[in-house]
Amino acid sequence: MPVLKTENLTKIFRRGWRRGKFTALDNLSIEVREGEIFGFLGPNGAGKTTTIKILLRLLKPTSGNAYILDTNLKDTPTRLRVGYMPENPYFYRFLTGEEFLKFYARLNRIPPDDQSRRIDELLDLVGMRHARNVLLKEYSKGMTQRIGLAQALMHDPKLVLLDEPMSGLDPIGRKEIRDLIYALKHQGRTIFFCSHILSDIQDMCSRVAILHHGKLLKMGELDSLLGTEKNKIRLEIRLPDGTSPADLDLAGEFHNGLLKSVLPNTAEANQKLDLWRSKGAQIISWIPERKNLEEIFVETIRAADPNVVLET
Ligand SMILES: Nc1ncnc2c1ncn2[C@@H]1O[C@H](COP(=O)(O)OP(=O)(O)O)[C@@H](O)[C@H]1O
Ligand SMILES: [Mg+2]
Repeated sequence: MPVLKTENLTKIFRRGWRRGKFTALDNLSIEVREGEIFGFLGPNGAGKTTTIKILLRLLKPTSGNAYILDTNLKDTPTRLRVGYMPENPYFYRFLTGEEFLKFYARLNRIPPDDQSRRIDELLDLVGMRHARNVLLKEYSKGMTQRIGLAQALMHDPKLVLLDEPMSGLDPIGRKEIRDLIYALKHQGRTIFFCSHILSDIQDMCSRVAILHHGKLLKMGELDSLLGTEKNKIRLEIRLPDGTSPADLDLAGEFHNGLLKSVLPNTAEANQKLDLWRSKGAQIISWIPERKNLEEIFVETIRAADPNVVLET
């Protein structure tokens, strides 16, 4: 059972009579499975935040359906038990971290006797105990993201929606958020992670969807999108004295007994392995030339929209 599912979700904004209608989401159908970190990837304006707002029932879709844990959003009168960390948290600048969490504890109807304990737990989880009495306006970007994550976890949700959780963070801040997201996964939560930052998705997500102009361009396992098994293999092989690359059915750059060669894919390289071994060759390195997600992302979007200008 998918934890989150959309079926032909469409959102058309009316932008006044002069500018007409604008399709922000166009028949989006995606599925997020239990316990995964799902990457929802797309350039700015693709429709990621719009999707999240529909899932939170902050926006009504023009057509289509969305389900969370098999419940159609249309059938649920109350806000579902989903944790949400917004893209641009407009936090209450003159509250301390603790006061801010207290506010959300009340909002989430945590019983008064449990509030302090829950807030302590969350402050520990996100490593913000030291800053509990500091005003939010004094927080760095990374601290703001971390307290935002604590807020999102207040009611212990199974599903957490994160909208650009790494944006504007320095490398250390990103690593901290990444470690926190892994910790959430290990607690058995499902993470829906929106981003236009490809490297973060590449590192963390098991499955991804690529969105552009409101349309789903690709969805699948990260490894199959990256085409790992179809990639070229870059080899370094040490040949015994008196052996030439031709004896090993290989070509390439050959110098001082070391051959550097590139084979078209994993299957072909594996086929030749027995021959190389029988000739006493030693494999020094075997490196698949992985395409990175960035290349796939750009290729996919350019294929759909040749004139696109992508921000870097
Ligand atoms: N309330 C709105 N009215 C009109 N257009 C909107 C509204 N909200 C978002 N849009 C437009 O919908 C598109 C998708 O926006 P958004 O979902 O925020 O994209 P993303 O989060 O992927 O960057 C953008 O072009 C944006 O300008
Ligand atoms: Mg957005």
